[in-house]
Amino acid sequence: MTDTTDMPAATRPAAQATPAWWQTAVIYQIYPRSFQDSDGDGIGDLAGIESRLDELVALGVGAIWISPFFPSPMVDFGYDVSDYCGVDPMFGTLADFDRMLAAAHTRGLKVILDFVPCHSSHEHPWFVESRASRDNPKRDWYIWRDAKPDGSPPNNWIGEFGGPAWTWDDTTGQYYLNVFLSEQPALNWANPDLRAAMLDAMRFWLDRGVDGFRVDAIIFAAPDVDGGDHPPNPDWIPAMGLARSQLQTRSAHQPGVFDVVRDMRRVTDSYPDRVLIGETSGTLDDVIPYYGADMDLFHLPFYFAMLSTPWRADALADFIVRYEAALPEGAWPTLVLGNHDISRIASRAGVAQARVALTLLLTLRGTPVLYQGDELGMDNASIPPDRVQDPWERRVPGLGLGRDPVRTPMPWTDGDNGGFSTAEPWLPLHLPPEGSAARQETDPGSMLSFARRLIALRRDRPALSQGDYRQIDAGPDVMVYERRCGDDRLVVCLNLSDAPRAVPVGGRPLLWTHKDRGAAAIPSLGLDPHEAVILDPA
Ligand code: NOJ
Repeated sequence: MTDTTDMPAATRPAAQATPAWWQTAVIYQIYPRSFQDSDGDGIGDLAGIESRLDELVALGVGAIWISPFFPSPMVDFGYDVSDYCGVDPMFGTLADFDRMLAAAHTRGLKVILDFVPCHSSHEHPWFVESRASRDNPKRDWYIWRDAKPDGSPPNNWIGEFGGPAWTWDDTTGQYYLNVFLSEQPALNWANPDLRAAMLDAMRFWLDRGVDGFRVDAIIFAAPDVDGGDHPPNPDWIPAMGLARSQLQTRSAHQPGVFDVVRDMRRVTDSYPDRVLIGETSGTLDDVIPYYGADMDLFHLPFYFAMLSTPWRADALADFIVRYEAALPEGAWPTLVLGNHDISRIASRAGVAQARVALTLLLTLRGTPVLYQGDELGMDNASIPPDRVQDPWERRVPGLGLGRDPVRTPMPWTDGDNGGFSTAEPWLPLHLPPEGSAARQETDPGSMLSFARRLIALRRDRPALSQGDYRQIDAGPDVMVYERRCGDDRLVVCLNLSDAPRAVPVGGRPLLWTHKDRGAAAIPSLGLDPHEAVILDPA
């Protein structure tokens, strides 16, 4: 580990004179089905988002990323798009979108959309045409191959949700590739007309004023379908789901993907001040190339390893050291502890650790992406079998792969349906241990009140939003690190255990998770179980 304390300032990574907004903002992910319903159908919508923007301003986030709201048969809840340039009536209209966007911009909030480029819905008119005949002009917009002589699919690939990655089409007598569900046929970015149409779809939203995209499942943009079978994964266990029983040596991270991202970035950069974020699942070695050798690919390629890192101080510290060390010059980290696909952090780390986790997310170097409800300490909901919605859970029940437990409606109030809707919500309402947002708002000691103070501190202090990072060895079960930007310095102290821990650092307490630490400087800190304290060491 590198200790940068004694380095001359010139050799320390310098904070950029004017960082980009996407480097300093906290990005808040909205899962629109579950954020706020405005028309009483039990499903959230764009007008609902607009009506809750003031809550997000009060929380202090700088940008929202909205998961898909485009027309879709909703087989994968919007990640199966049937029109890239529209709004599904369930979520409202384009006029609702424009209104919501303007309302967000008026409040200083940036708006990032989800772009789903690697597959459309099987109901997309392009696919309807493509499957109509082998000589249809859009045939090659999707990936079609002959069966093997015995009638089996062209290769052994398994889809991400456990079914086959190829679907037979009787009409035209060929298989098409579907990396996820068969209702999500893979788009062929090698076809120049498809590529142009998709880049135009990006322009459609950029012209309307959106501030960027989070690009879905980009690692599958250039599958080498003729390159052969996937080898077995020697480390596979059934709990990983069937897709992980193979190593995706041909479907994921193929060289052509970078060319696709470069085109997306060119389009993004032709508008001022926009951001491109990639859903770049994989190892550190997989993710780093997505910055581009000339920083010309994603501004923010996600590195998801913190989601699977054991919730232990040594493991997390090691994650950060390795991530920081691997980042090339000019690359900015992204930080994720939750999203709509993965068990809630309050369930993974334990409810008692929720504030420590939030502190970690918001005080590391990089852009934090906060999933809706994590600011309330939401844990996983338990979903009765007859209410299961997620196609993944329906396909492989009982493995715990289902994503419904993290997609339940926002519990805004203690009223009917949590103030989310006047109707029964599409997934059951689940209250976090500390209660609804309204209840937490009135309690200065609540998780929500803490989240607001923490984000405010991050906004106020360049050390947190831009500073460099130095780990301080402080013994087992604790993470202690300094953030520093010029003269601005803070020390973050986290106790990941359920026992008290002494840490050999002192200073003036600025923020604490539990008991009032007062404003007077202390010579050294005794952390309570599950406590986080941020000190001003000056
Ligand atoms: C990743 C998205 O986050 C997930 O929700 C979706 O099911 C797949 N991509 C397929 O688009």
